[in-house]
Amino acid sequence: MTVYRRAPQLFIEWHGPDMVLVDTASLQRFRANPTVLDLLSRLDAWKPVDALDSDEGPSVRASLDRLVDLGLLERSEDDVEANGRGPALDLWSPYELAMHRLVSAGGYRGDAEVLRNGTAPSLRKPRAEGEVVKLPKADPQLSISLSDALEQRRTIRTYGERAMTLAELSTLLHYAARITRMRHDETLGDEALHTYPTSGARSELEVYVVANDVAGLPNGAYYFDPIEQTITHLEAADEEGRQALLRNMHGAAGGLLNRDPQVVIVITAVFGRIMWKYRDIGLVMIYKDTGALLQTLYLVSTATNLAPCAIGGGNEMATTRWLGLDPLVEAQVGCFLVGVPDNAS
Ligand SMILES: Cc1cc2nc3c(=O)[nH]c(=O)nc-3n(C[C@H](O)[C@H](O)[C@H](O)COP(=O)(O)O)c2cc1C
Repeated sequence: MTVYRRAPQLFIEWHGPDMVLVDTASLQRFRANPTVLDLLSRLDAWKPVDALDSDEGPSVRASLDRLVDLGLLERSEDDVEANGRGPALDLWSPYELAMHRLVSAGGYRGDAEVLRNGTAPSLRKPRAEGEVVKLPKADPQLSISLSDALEQRRTIRTYGERAMTLAELSTLLHYAARITRMRHDETLGDEALHTYPTSGARSELEVYVVANDVAGLPNGAYYFDPIEQTITHLEAADEEGRQALLRNMHGAAGGLLNRDPQVVIVITAVFGRIMWKYRDIGLVMIYKDTGALLQTLYLVSTATNLAPCAIGGGNEMATTRWLGLDPLVEAQVGCFLVGVPDNAS
């Protein structure tokens, strides 16, 4: 028997007064007339044509087959998927599909549009209020070679008892996250080059240090200035929020942490810096850049004998608000635990 079902990857969006169906698997858009919407609403589970209770008989079947060809419905004959997409689609949510497909559809907004949109957003945050801590000089050289760091790099989730030193924190941030050079482009404004790459040199990532056990540093949240190499204490980020973040990190690490990590690094993105230049692909670029920063943090941690662990999830909205940020302007996109490994003296 032939049965039909609404394709699971559809979105509905408004284009002016029109309701438009988006097939996120192909990014094709279709004007959604009331008849089609009614059919799709009723086909929320596998059903034969008869179940649609329509007087139009064979013509309904032809309409359904047409919707299958367009990717808006799925058809199954004797339990065999007949529309060619198959079970691989079940892995995807429509959100993921849309974002992935947009990588081919989006791109550079183009000079004219960029210029029309006004001046380039600043790559520097306004100076945060709070006590500024100048970090001690970083080690002038990392003690192991790149090939050794790559060979030895491991995720470590158990920490020693001692506090991290400010010098260790400083060396980590100096090699993994600082800006090494600024340059200026007439159209695109300032561009910043870090020790890790960022898409289009937009430098959209920011680094916050959550100190939980760093010698000489009161516990709390700090903003890392990637040029001055200072950290500024964010006094509004309270103790309750720090404890909530730590509980969240213990959960995300699957209960494997033997104690609070000496430091949690929260990576945020200032969305406007990159979305201003790129249409539809900004978020994906941010995630790729975050991966580049995470790997750099891993390698430098390994080279400085610190225990690294990236964290994929996290309560991004709560942490973002705790840091005093507007989640639509700048929000958490990554987390990284780093501590003194339990074999370190
Ligand atoms: C982007 C990313 C997210 C990760 N998220 C988590 C996480 O949420 N919790 C965790 O315990 N480990 C997390 N990890 C660590 C991985 O589990 C770890 O890298 C993996 O097991 C491979 O081990 P290795 O890093 O020693 O090669 C993450 C790693 C990456 C790169």
